[in-house]
Amino acid sequence: MSNLPTFTALQVMQDAPVIPVIVLNDVAHAVPMARALVAGGIRMLEVTLRTPQALACIEAIAREVPEAVVGAGTVRSRADAQAAANAGARFAVSPGYTSAVGQACRDFGLALLPGVATGSEIMMAQEDGLSQLKFFPAMQAGGPAMLKAWSGPFFDVQFCPTGGVTLQNASEFLALPNVVCVGGSWLVPAEAMAAGDWARVTALAQATQALRK
Ligand code: 3PG
Repeated sequence: MSNLPTFTALQVMQDAPVIPVIVLNDVAHAVPMARALVAGGIRMLEVTLRTPQALACIEAIAREVPEAVVGAGTVRSRADAQAAANAGARFAVSPGYTSAVGQACRDFGLALLPGVATGSEIMMAQEDGLSQLKFFPAMQAGGPAMLKAWSGPFFDVQFCPTGGVTLQNASEFLALPNVVCVGGSWLVPAEAMAAGDWARVTALAQATQALRK
């Protein structure tokens, strides 16, 4: 893994308008799902550490889909960051922020997009040198209006709103100057995955290309 190029959080955010939030229950789905997203123009893939199969899925994608850049989502502890890096993840996304998770990601060479929902959390992340943040849960915590309010005091922070974002409301977020990309689970619907409908996943990924800033 060590010869692969590394990415900053900003590069992870700038690669495509949407970072797919992926929940995998079956290792057999990991590789075809990743290939389907790459075919639709999305290569930064967040596989959430929410299922017992997640690490094996990250490993399979890292090994078999070199065109993709696999990251781990739901990273909540140092142990999560270490396991993700060992499995081949190259970036991490977390639902909140602690300095311990920030330090672990630096130690294990993972770019980190930490989740924030308040001004104090933004300030804590910035104290640790992080200015590219996930706004989570975006719709529930104030939506585009919250990001507009933050653009004054936090003029030097860039956001990836995630949580309740859809193809329909994504452009409202992406129109904001402090939003680089959005995150969302809609690109990989559970029923498409269960049915092996990879063409649908590719079509959903392709549809996001019209959102490019
Ligand atoms: C999550 O971590 O579950 C993400 O925020 C996904 O949210 P969504 O399902 O509303 O896109």
